[in-house]
Amino acid sequence: MSGRPRLDLARLPTPFEPAPRLAEHLDVASVYVKREDMAGYALGGNKLRQLDFILAEAIAAGADMLIATAGSQSNFCRSLAGAAAKLGLGCHLHLRARMGTEHVGNLLLDDIFGAEVTFTQNTDPWHPAIKDEIEAIADDYRRQGRSPFVVQLTGVSANVGVAGWMSGAAELVEDFKAIGRMPDIVVVVCGSGLTAAGLALGFKHLEVPTRVMGVSAQQPEARLRKWIIETANAAAAWMGIETRLSGQDLDIVDDEIGPGYGIPSAASLAAVKTAGRLEGLVLDPVYTGKGMAALIGAAEKGLFGKASSIVFLHSGGTPGLFTHASAFERSAPQ
Ligand SMILES: Cc1ncc(COP(=O)(O)O)c(C=O)c1O
Repeated sequence: MSGRPRLDLARLPTPFEPAPRLAEHLDVASVYVKREDMAGYALGGNKLRQLDFILAEAIAAGADMLIATAGSQSNFCRSLAGAAAKLGLGCHLHLRARMGTEHVGNLLLDDIFGAEVTFTQNTDPWHPAIKDEIEAIADDYRRQGRSPFVVQLTGVSANVGVAGWMSGAAELVEDFKAIGRMPDIVVVVCGSGLTAAGLALGFKHLEVPTRVMGVSAQQPEARLRKWIIETANAAAAWMGIETRLSGQDLDIVDDEIGPGYGIPSAASLAAVKTAGRLEGLVLDPVYTGKGMAALIGAAEKGLFGKASSIVFLHSGGTPGLFTHASAFERSAPQ
């Protein structure tokens, strides 16, 4: 849909599966799960379709070293490391140490995929010092005769990241046609918000009435909404499409952040178990579990009619589950 060059590393279309036991539990007509966790290599996730676009740009620019920064258990960085391995490119991940440097979950996979990992003590992803640290790493590679390419979803790569999820919106519209109805709502958990931005922009562009409900796992509602609108509209201008998003075009909730970003909440731990026990789904307690907790909470508050059709975007994050085993042990038995 975006007309941008792309690789085909992700296995698309991802499955679109009915979840009838979950629908019965929520007392709605139907629930479908879009299985981005099954998007292919490196344990899947919502970043893979964005990486198909971002890495097409990197290759066109002659890159031989991909550089990115995020939290130490970043799903995005693990996906990037997996893609770099498949493409035979180097990968340097500069990760915030605060969430732990234990060799488990995504950090273990980063190592298995051959990425070079360094840590920063800086705790704020938006702090300008992080940009300086990344520039210094890129300069080092340039001095060694390498051709580094910085991938930063909340910065230089944002437009392409939105384009990736506009194509995801187009794929969902095909899924909707296959089930013969336009669902009322797609629930998606938000970090940077680029996935929700691309989906909402894509649905509006394609004149699909399905609403996007973004569940913040990180930022307060007002900041996330503002960022999503600005980023979607900048990407639309960059893609040369007329459609623009406004504040009314999507719903954002921030009451599932719980104790904080990257930290499981009682509701997310319970939601992971509910999805597992009803549908055999593997969610994680810091992203998709919070999205599912919001969906369950909204159903319990009676916000959906009995005739509603709901889509849950399973955005991946599977390795993170295993780093939170002790939180499940501490949580109340069900
Ligand atoms: C598993 C998972 N789900 C959802 C998200 C949120 O996606 P976005 O950053 O596009 O809002 C992330 C972000 O890292 C993630 O790792």
